[in-house]
Amino acid sequence: MEIKRENLIATLGGEEAVARMDSEAKADALEDFLSTELDKILLSTDPFPTVAQVEAKIPTRHYRMGAGNLFVATAPGAKVKVLPPMPEKPTLYDFFALRFAPANHVLQSAALAMKNGMSEEIILACLLHDTAQALLKADHGYWAAQLYEPYVPEKTAFAIKYHQALRFFADPAYGYEYPDLYRRLFGEDYVPLPHIRADYEMLKKHPWYEAPRLVTVNDFYSFDPKAKISIDPFREIIGRHFKQPKEGLGNDNSPVAHMWRTIAHPDMAL
Ligand SMILES: [Fe+2]
Ligand SMILES: [Fe+2]
Repeated sequence: MEIKRENLIATLGGEEAVARMDSEAKADALEDFLSTELDKILLSTDPFPTVAQVEAKIPTRHYRMGAGNLFVATAPGAKVKVLPPMPEKPTLYDFFALRFAPANHVLQSAALAMKNGMSEEIILACLLHDTAQALLKADHGYWAAQLYEPYVPEKTAFAIKYHQALRFFADPAYGYEYPDLYRRLFGEDYVPLPHIRADYEMLKKHPWYEAPRLVTVNDFYSFDPKAKISIDPFREIIGRHFKQPKEGLGNDNSPVAHMWRTIAHPDMAL
């Protein structure tokens, strides 16, 4: 099994944080890293499960697979961590640093989109497309689109929303294949839910079909060890296209302010 060092280090908070850990803490951290459900799935070489086998695992867990990353520590015996407080007027950068981190997957997807010469609207969509997984994984594209709609161009929100439906459908014209990850997560005989199939039919005839399709094409799962994981290359695009509210995300009385507050304060009991 190949361990992706940079991915592991980023997960632990960076080189400096790792340097401060003793060897026992490092061993525990490595175990944690390999024990998360998604990493086990990504690294698995087992045959693909069936839908029935995927369903049979539900009552073996103490959480549901659709739960947001901030709300559950998936490794057996692991505990959630105390989160650093958010600034009074949080920006998108604060959410990336303090709640979405390490965010490797979306940063790499955006870097790939940039390398592939995508438009700024699509690069921004790639940067944000899976960040709502902090809140909820189930239907995350729809949640993310709603979360970002007041602040990003319409086409960016459209691309974020529908990347989720298009992920289930191959499109050889764009070189997009149905992902093995989905065979593992949903079962090899899985049929997408009716709303996903209906959105796919709608999208096939939509003039903006390409926007979410390009998010799926740049959806980057295999880690490039030479990739620099930073939000810096995207600061200009964010500055041009993300309408940061002056009161801070969560404080602007927008229809989605409560969603940002929940991400900022996931330990609120009610
Ligand atoms: Fe996604
Ligand atoms: Fe993704």
